[in-house]
Amino acid sequence: MTTRRIALSVSLYVRLAAVTQTLAQDVPVVPATPLVSQIYPDPSSVPYQIYPNHDFVRGPQTGYNRCNASTENQDSLCQTAHVNNLTDFCLWAPPMPNSTIADTEAEEVAWCTTKGHGTRLMLNGTLQAVQVLNAPDYVMVVGLIDQTKLNIRDGDYGGECDYGGADLAGNPLGGLVYSTKWGANGQPGQILYWTEFIGNNQFCFKICKPDGTNPRGYCQHTLDRIGVAYNCPSKFSLGGGAADGTFEVCDSDNMEIPGIYTLPGGQTTSYAQPPESLGPIQTVPYDPVAPSSSNCQATPSSVLYSDFITLAVSPPTSLPVSSGSGSSGPAQPTSSRGTSASGSESAAAGLASPTTSAADSLHVPLRFVAVLGTLCAAAFLA
Ligand SMILES: *[C@@H]1O[C@H](CO)[C@@H](O)[C@H](O)[C@H]1NC(C)=O
Ligand SMILES: *[C@@H]1O[C@H](CO)[C@@H](O)[C@H](O)[C@H]1NC(C)=O
Ligand SMILES: *[C@@H]1O[C@H](CO)[C@@H](O)[C@H](O)[C@H]1NC(C)=O
Ligand SMILES: *[C@@H]1O[C@H](CO)[C@@H](O)[C@H](O)[C@H]1NC(C)=O
Repeated sequence: MTTRRIALSVSLYVRLAAVTQTLAQDVPVVPATPLVSQIYPDPSSVPYQIYPNHDFVRGPQTGYNRCNASTENQDSLCQTAHVNNLTDFCLWAPPMPNSTIADTEAEEVAWCTTKGHGTRLMLNGTLQAVQVLNAPDYVMVVGLIDQTKLNIRDGDYGGECDYGGADLAGNPLGGLVYSTKWGANGQPGQILYWTEFIGNNQFCFKICKPDGTNPRGYCQHTLDRIGVAYNCPSKFSLGGGAADGTFEVCDSDNMEIPGIYTLPGGQTTSYAQPPESLGPIQTVPYDPVAPSSSNCQATPSSVLYSDFITLAVSPPTSLPVSSGSGSSGPAQPTSSRGTSASGSESAAAGLASPTTSAADSLHVPLRFVAVLGTLCAAAFLA
């Protein structure tokens, strides 16, 4: 181990101690403004970047939030996503080809189905099947993908993007989400609570109704390692829907709050994810259940996605700005282990855990994550 590494560890340890103390005193955690407190009602007037500075462990932000016609291309680093309906939604995915979500979660950019959001457009063939589930308190867009068309490495089990992250600045760091679903007069309204699971050729983007019942609960982000089946129970995530080219919109009952389940005796209880330091999760004490859905309306994908592009895209060779993943080194998307500061968000989208984790190599951030993970679980599931 080099001297520099030791120095880095010590400095992280000191920072960790500071955070623990901060938490103990119940004062706001770093950065000063968590992502859920970054309020920008109108996406056309957001700042260029909402996290331009190096805030604590991670930063600055890799991409930008102000997205318009000049940023609408296949090199776009737009980090403002829109989730409106079956025809018009975006997914967070890596900026560089052949990436894993665990390595790049802080840097993901928006890939959208339609023009007009100042983002990359999905390539034709990305979406194999999609179901939009309109529930009273959230909208869940779930589906099957060819993830390699979103720069995700073939075989990657993926992970979770959400408004949290170990420093509460989000994954992607500074990612904003809007939807016209509950916006006034059909205008986009900001979504503060959202989660996306992507990997294992599946995805789920869930947005929670801002003034609904328990948006933090339905879109809570503390069960990242048990994956899409538990967080987004649906026919696709539970293995019941083949890649059969179904593109449909359905009404749905609310799911159970992720992690809440009923014991055989009828008593309601909750599950909290164990810390990563205890190794892979072998069992979960309950099975996820898809809520009932009805009134499904299917449409052929050729009608829905006329903006898909088929061009061969020549990938950029490097990112124009530094990695969002912070303190452990220079911007190298494929080796930015600094994202392990947010390791609680970096595990499998599928249930089976990968054998390695982005957090393996840095012990201090792991403990940092454990502290925050416990607190978040307590706060959200209480
Ligand atoms: C368009 O977006 C770019 C990149 O965020 C920004 O520099 C530029 O000012 C924006 N243009 C307008 C007219 O807002
Ligand atoms: C999807 O949402 C966009 C933005 O609100 C809207 O323009 C479009 O008409 C909607 N499409 C459908 C099929 O509802
Ligand atoms: C993706 O990266 C992996 C690991 O570095 C490598 O083995 C594989 O060949 C790469 N695939 C492509 C398509 O570049
Ligand atoms: C996408 O691919 C399908 C099947 O190859 C084709 O029918 C369709 O026209 C393509 N769409 C676009 C927008 O290129």
